[in-house]
Amino acid sequence: MEIHRHAEHLKFLFVVLMVIMSSLGIQFWMKNDRQSNTLLLSPASHHNHTNSDDLHVPLMTKPMADIGIAPQEWHQIQDMIRWPGPDKQIKDLSASTDPSSSYFYIPGQRKSYQVGEELCVTVVARDFHQNLKPYGGDFFQAKLYSTKLKASVFGEVTDLHNGSYSLRFLLPWPGEAWVAVRLIHSSEAVQVLKHSRKYHSDRVYFRGVFMGTDAKGTKFIEAMECNPKWDGAGLERMRKGNCCCEYPDPGTGEVWLCKKPKSLPCDALVNHQMGGYRNILRPDEEKFLATKYTDRWIKGKNRKIMILPSNTTVGASVKCRPGLQIPVPAGFYMKDVWTSLVCATGHFNAPKITQCLKDRELFMMGDSTMRQWYHYMGNSVPSIKYMDLHSSEQAGPLLAVDVTNNILLHWRAHGTPLRSRTSPIANLHYISNEIDGIAGGPRKVIVFTIWAHFTSFPLKYYIRRVARIRQAVIALLKRAPDTIVVIKSANTGSKNVFGSDWLALQLDTILRAIFQGINVAFIDVWQMTSCHYSKDAIHHNPTVIWNEINLLLSFICPV
Ligand SMILES: *[C@@H]1O[C@H](CO)[C@@H](O)[C@H](O)[C@H]1NC(C)=O
Ligand SMILES: *[C@@H]1O[C@H](CO)[C@@H](O)[C@H](O)[C@H]1NC(C)=O
Repeated sequence: MEIHRHAEHLKFLFVVLMVIMSSLGIQFWMKNDRQSNTLLLSPASHHNHTNSDDLHVPLMTKPMADIGIAPQEWHQIQDMIRWPGPDKQIKDLSASTDPSSSYFYIPGQRKSYQVGEELCVTVVARDFHQNLKPYGGDFFQAKLYSTKLKASVFGEVTDLHNGSYSLRFLLPWPGEAWVAVRLIHSSEAVQVLKHSRKYHSDRVYFRGVFMGTDAKGTKFIEAMECNPKWDGAGLERMRKGNCCCEYPDPGTGEVWLCKKPKSLPCDALVNHQMGGYRNILRPDEEKFLATKYTDRWIKGKNRKIMILPSNTTVGASVKCRPGLQIPVPAGFYMKDVWTSLVCATGHFNAPKITQCLKDRELFMMGDSTMRQWYHYMGNSVPSIKYMDLHSSEQAGPLLAVDVTNNILLHWRAHGTPLRSRTSPIANLHYISNEIDGIAGGPRKVIVFTIWAHFTSFPLKYYIRRVARIRQAVIALLKRAPDTIVVIKSANTGSKNVFGSDWLALQLDTILRAIFQGINVAFIDVWQMTSCHYSKDAIHHNPTVIWNEINLLLSFICPV
C-alpha cells in the first residue's frame, strides 16, 4: 500500500518536473533522447520496439541536470567513452581481428634500456586473411613483466585508428623484462557488446520473491522477473500494459520493477535474487565472442628487453591524500609488492592494520570485490571479530568489530541490480542513500565500488546512479570535510557478453570522470589486476587484494 502511494506521488512529481524542465528549455535533452530512441529501431533487434510509452517516460531517461550533470559534462563523458570500430555491421568472421596473425614489435629496439625510461611498442592488428585492419577498436591489454622477479607493469594502449596501436611502458625495474599483449576482444566483438548493451539490457534479469499465506494458512511464494524501470535498451519489453509492481526510491528517483505476481499484492515482495542470463546473441554474433578468439596473447618479435639500473628510482614520495591524479602506469609489482606511483604506500601487517584502524569506523559498500576487502581485514587481524547478523553473505549487512581498539567494519551490497542469491530486498540500500545517512567526521571512512553488476545496462542508467552518489559525497564532504572517501575502481576478470572487461572499462571510465575534481581517494585496481600474473578472475587472489588493502590503508593512515 505504502509503495503504491509512493508510486503515485512520484509519478505526479515526475510529470511536474518534466513540465518545469521543458519550460526551462531543457528540451535539448529530450531531443537527444528522441534521436537515440529512433536508433533503437535496429533491424538486428529481435523484438519490435514501440514508443507507446513516450508520454510516460520516467525521469531516468531524461536530462541529468537534476542529479548534477550539466550538458557540458555530459558531452565530456560521451567523448571519453567513445570507442572506434567498423562503420558498418561486420558479419564475416574472417574480416575480424585474428589474434594469431596479429603481432607486435619494438620499433628501433636497443640492446638495453635504463630504469625510468619509456618503451614504445607497436601492435599490428590483422584479419584472418592476414590483411592489416583498416580501422581501430580492438581491445588490447598490455603488460611488461618478469616471471622470475614477480614483477609487472601495465602498458598504455593508444588506438591509431588504422589497425595499428601504440603501446607505452615505463621501465620501473632493472633486469630482464618481457612485453606481453593480449587481444581481449576484436573490434567486431566490441561491436557485438555495444549492440547487446544498447538493445538487450534485459539479457540479465532478476527475480523478486513474493511471500504470502493461502486460505488454509499455508505459506507460499511467487517468484517474478524484475529489472530497473527504464525506457529503451530492451528493458521496456518487460512492461506490457498493467504488467508490473513499481518500487520507486525517493532518495534516488530510481524505480525497481517486478512483474505482478498472479495472486499476491505488490507489497508481498520480500526477497531479491539473480534471475538468469538470456543468450541474446545470434550465431553470427556469438562467433566473434568465442573463447578461441577472446583473451588471446598475440605474437611478439623479440619481446624480451634488458633494463639496466640507473640513478632514477621509480616510485612516489607524496603522502596519500584524496584528490591525487592517477598516472599510467599507476604503479608496478616487484616481488609481488605493488609500488604505487600515485603516492607513498605502506605495508600493513596485522598490528599495523589494527593501529591504523583504531578508533575508526569503515562503511564499505558495493559488490563482492569490496567484500573481499572487508574479509581481508577481518581475516588477517585476529582482534577483529565477525558479528553474526544472520544476513545473507552476498547482500549483507556484514559487521566486524574490535571492541578493544574501537574498530567497526561494515560491508553491505549496493542497491539493485545485484546478481545475488536470495537476499531480503530491504537489505539492498542504494549507496547514495546510505551516505546521506552518515554524519561523517575524521574517524569515519566511506569506501565503495560500483560497476560489476551494471555491465549489462545502458551507460545512462549507470551515469545516473554514480552522479547521485557524487551528490551524496559532495554533501557529506560539506558537512564533514575530514571524512575520508575512497573509491575502488573496476577490476579486470570477465570476458563474456554479460560482464566483459570492455563493458567494465566503459563504466570505470565514467566512474573516474564523474568523481574527477572531487576530494576523494581513487584506488586504481584496474591496472593492478590487469598486469598481475595470477589467473584473471573477477575475484583476484589474496596477493593482489593485500596490495589493494595497502593502498586503501595508506589513504587512511598516510606513511
Ligand atoms: C597508422 O597511423 C599512424 C598515426 O597516424 C601512422 O604513423 C602509421 O604509419 C599508420 N600505419 C599504417 C600502416 O598506415
Ligand atoms: C643521473 O644520471 C644522469 C646521466 O645519466 C645525470 O645527468 C644526472 O645528473 C644524474 N642524477 C643524479 C641525481 O645523480
